[in-house]
Amino acid sequence: MPSEKSLYSPNPVLAEKAHIKSFEEYKSLYNESLENPGEFWSKIAKQFHWETPADPKNFVDYNFDITKGPISIKWMEGASTNICYNLLDRNIRNGLGDTIAYYWEGNHPSDYSRGITYRKLLDEVCRFANVLKDHGVEKGDRVSIYMPMILELPIAMLACARIGAVHSIVFAGFSPDSLAERMTDCKAKVLLTADGAWRGEKPLFLKALCDTAMEKAEEMGHHVEKCIVVSHLKRVTECKENLIDQDIPWNSDRDFWWHEEMEDKEPACYPEWMNAEDPLFMLYTSGSTGKPKGVLHTTAGYLLYAATTFKYVFDYKPGDIYWCTADIGWITGHSYVVYGPLANGATSVIFEGTPFYPDNDRYWDVIEKYKVSQFYTAPTAIRALMKFGEEPVLKHDLSTLKVLGSVGEPINPEAWLWYYRYIGKEKCSIVDTFWQTETGGHVITPIPFATPMKPGSASFPFFGVKPTLLDESGAEIKGEGEGYLVFTQPWPGMMRTLYNNHPRYEETYFSKFPGYYCTGDGARRDADGYLWITGRVDDMLNVSGHLMSTAEVESVLTEHTKVAEAAVVSRPHAIKGECLYCFITPNSNQVLDPKTIKELKTLVRERIGPFAQPDIIQYAPGLPKTRSGKIMRRVLRKVAVNDRNVGDISTLAEEKVVEELFANRPKEA
Ligand code: WT7
Repeated sequence: MPSEKSLYSPNPVLAEKAHIKSFEEYKSLYNESLENPGEFWSKIAKQFHWETPADPKNFVDYNFDITKGPISIKWMEGASTNICYNLLDRNIRNGLGDTIAYYWEGNHPSDYSRGITYRKLLDEVCRFANVLKDHGVEKGDRVSIYMPMILELPIAMLACARIGAVHSIVFAGFSPDSLAERMTDCKAKVLLTADGAWRGEKPLFLKALCDTAMEKAEEMGHHVEKCIVVSHLKRVTECKENLIDQDIPWNSDRDFWWHEEMEDKEPACYPEWMNAEDPLFMLYTSGSTGKPKGVLHTTAGYLLYAATTFKYVFDYKPGDIYWCTADIGWITGHSYVVYGPLANGATSVIFEGTPFYPDNDRYWDVIEKYKVSQFYTAPTAIRALMKFGEEPVLKHDLSTLKVLGSVGEPINPEAWLWYYRYIGKEKCSIVDTFWQTETGGHVITPIPFATPMKPGSASFPFFGVKPTLLDESGAEIKGEGEGYLVFTQPWPGMMRTLYNNHPRYEETYFSKFPGYYCTGDGARRDADGYLWITGRVDDMLNVSGHLMSTAEVESVLTEHTKVAEAAVVSRPHAIKGECLYCFITPNSNQVLDPKTIKELKTLVRERIGPFAQPDIIQYAPGLPKTRSGKIMRRVLRKVAVNDRNVGDISTLAEEKVVEELFANRPKEA
């Protein structure tokens, strides 16, 4: 196994052709980006179209210090542009009209495959922008989107951006409850979805889920006016062979078919010029107190940052074929399936299916089929695929690859090495990209072919990002050490606020350590200055790269009539990284029988989504609480892994509960 000292040098042949050719070059650009951020980013901004240019002397303006006034971050204040115009019209003007923007690969390998050029994409986006306008969507309105990985999803996003509507995508693996909560919070006017989709061998009836969600939103006091539905099921292989007779539920006053609405629309739509700080989109992420947070990104800064990180972190060059496996419903898909690649005129693959269908070599098959040069996926997928050994990999020609990306959680050295050896053939650079929904783009990441790699370390900051480690008292840790990972100044792509809740934004990210943006992650700096992310320092857990809070799962569990109290902790999991381990204290005269355990697992799936299903549910006669009533989670984490070294428990109200918890660990745990 590699150790902290193992260093993997980038491939010198590939380095010669790279945008950034050496670590020295990275360092000098990085220093430039910190010394004069305005100048650094205004040079980058020159490649884009600005309807009104920015004042280079007033390129960034911010306050990061809550003790001095409200937190505010502004880039290019006074400039105006349209991001859709920059992604499509500008690239077409530069000669990329006939370049493929996306190849679409369906769930089934024999699905009709589709490639869409930049010109055709612009036509479709304009037509759909006109559909939205006809349905009364105006600048600033929120549009919720709940779609599978189909081309209509980026089309819908860019149509929103073209007319200045704010898209709010909800990953289609979320439950109707989660969708309802999010639509209600942002007061979505319109919902965009599809009749359904297949995930591997399973059909998903999205429109039916949307109907439930719209009803629930109504109960919460929010009315969604229109629902526009892509007819996707009828065009895919699974349904052609085995037509689904389940009717798609329909309300003809509210629901419209996408293709019918598009029929008579003009393929032209004048872009709405947006101010640099006008909202572009919002995206919900879990918060440690339960209610999801509507992270808001704005126009100019996000464009600069998504474009620049994409170009350098994937070393994208014209002619490359890039593939990110993330669902567009997560921030990774926003920045690195849609905005970043299109801003660079890139050609990408959008894949609807799963790594295991029809076989465990599907990813490798797709890489070979499209001659992918940059591949970006999550450690959980790598670990799951490693299980099948090298044989499925060796069946395919992966020689076109040059950059391999990883995102979502720390990558363990074992998985890193497998990725490096068997997928990258020891020739590709691996970029372990650390970032968050909130950061908008990569913030700590190696630069391919420039940064010498250490397996498991996200290494060094991207341009404009200044990380610091703080100890509990807020003092900066210089040199080697471990602490809270914070940032001392804004980069263009970071979030500006939480939708409709600036106080929560200031409280969550800026109050613990005034003057710093607090990531909620811990990190360690080694003797060579490399940063190693150590994981969340708050009550959040990361299951297969999906971030969730213990509080949100607990609140679902306590909805069950038999449950008095619930406490959830994270436990390490070989494939998922972490999994949910739940402690349940039933109401008096109730028992936690297998049927109840099953009901509780189903409840969490239904309320949050399938990815949140608990692995273990254990009976807890009592929970370890301090005298002030706070649950001591570190004790529960020890019980979950059956480690009796629980540390100091003298502040517990009742020490004996700890022994009882160990005694009640279920067999399957
Ligand atoms: C949290 C953010 C960023 C897109 C996907 C997740 C964890 C993310 C890494 C990495 C270690 C990572 C952090 C972070 N995380 N990437 N390369 N190494 N940890 O976005 O849902 O906002 O989650 O994911 O804990 O805070 P998100």
